[in-house]
Amino acid sequence: MCSDSILYSSYDLPCGVTVRNRLVKSAMEESMSSAGKLPGSALYSLYRYWAHGNLGMVITGNVMVDSAAMTGPGGVALEKHTPIESFERWAKIIKSNGALAVMQINHPGRQVFKAMKGKALAPSAIPLNMGKHSKLFAEPTEMTCEDIHDVCNRFVETAKQAERAGFDGVEIHAAHGYLLTQFLSPLTNERQDEWGGSIINRARLLINIVSQIRAVCDKKFIVMVKLNSADFQRGGFDFNDACEVVSRLEALGVDIVELSGGSYEAPAMQGQTRDDRTLAREAYFLEFAKTLESKTNIPLMTTGGIKRASVAQEVVEQGCAFVGMASALAFTPDLAKKWQQDWTYSGVIPNCGWKDKTLSSLANMSMVRRQLRRLGNDLTTIRRPAPLWSLILDMVHRKKMTKRDVGA
Ligand SMILES: Cc1cc2nc3c(=O)[nH]c(=O)nc-3n(C[C@H](O)[C@H](O)[C@H](O)COP(=O)(O)O)c2cc1C
Repeated sequence: MCSDSILYSSYDLPCGVTVRNRLVKSAMEESMSSAGKLPGSALYSLYRYWAHGNLGMVITGNVMVDSAAMTGPGGVALEKHTPIESFERWAKIIKSNGALAVMQINHPGRQVFKAMKGKALAPSAIPLNMGKHSKLFAEPTEMTCEDIHDVCNRFVETAKQAERAGFDGVEIHAAHGYLLTQFLSPLTNERQDEWGGSIINRARLLINIVSQIRAVCDKKFIVMVKLNSADFQRGGFDFNDACEVVSRLEALGVDIVELSGGSYEAPAMQGQTRDDRTLAREAYFLEFAKTLESKTNIPLMTTGGIKRASVAQEVVEQGCAFVGMASALAFTPDLAKKWQQDWTYSGVIPNCGWKDKTLSSLANMSMVRRQLRRLGNDLTTIRRPAPLWSLILDMVHRKKMTKRDVGA
């Protein structure tokens, strides 16, 4: 029994809300919305598993702030005029057994699949470089100042809607190469105006979004930010930049910074870098979190590569308030309960070792998404799914969803 582990102790957030334990389900895009880009029966079934998994907090997969700019097929969007009944039901299910419900909100910027036929906006018109896979992505258009203000308003309106629907908070996605990361990184932001250049300018959009959400939502509404510790690409957003951004977020009363890393081009969130730096085999970003922890009072959470209780405990002992887990909770949604009965129980994180790193990374995602779909259909999970078959099934599912969403 390990219920007396620090992992199962409560934590009071700066906004005054108490989280019952330190184990958090991190965001995973489920790609299984109902028609109209709304949550529906498949998502409700899936989140029931996590609701009963004895987690402190459950963060939804990224919800788009603009339904014309989606990260992928089968995504969820919540805009100013979206009816919120289906979101109310989603929040209620997540909270039904004591976990807090946080909605992750996001804008893809240039990371938009061409097949989605949506808007691909970016701080500068620099396309994604995914080698031979680049042609799958739309060519981005450089944003005008009006576009930037529109995106800021959209984040704020989505947060207000999430609050109305009963979510306890939002997590602003400023990691993994999406729009806010594109502003933060000098590799993707070559602007000469107040939105580019110094880190203060590159962080301006994120800071404006956070301060406006803080101003319009209740004092007890949780505001989290998911931030890259670095881009893991030469010349990109680096750890010093991350420290500067965190100090600004602290001044705004952000409740938790979730540390991750990378982008589609350099998927460090899966443990792979593109600048020859090596990450730990488990808890990839813990070293960054430890350094950051000495410089800030914001509660930190680190996500990436965590599947064992001993590693999760080390994360908290080393100074992180929370332990984020994604893949392991797709394979074992009740992992937090299992650890209470068997401390040595190990979760699963798929690791496909194909030579083509991009395909390998896609296969890893496909294996996880296959588990999510199985849970959404109330089927048992498969502990060792075949990567190629998972990739094929995923492609079929995404094609079907793309057809439904854009009529392609
Ligand atoms: C299928 C899948 C979908 C994901 N979708 C999101 C997402 O919507 N937002 C996000 O911040 N991270 C997303 N991630 C990244 C995870 O939150 C996490 O940072 C990453 O998988 C590393 O954690 P893990 O090793 O515990 O899986 C996704 C990961 C997977 C596998």
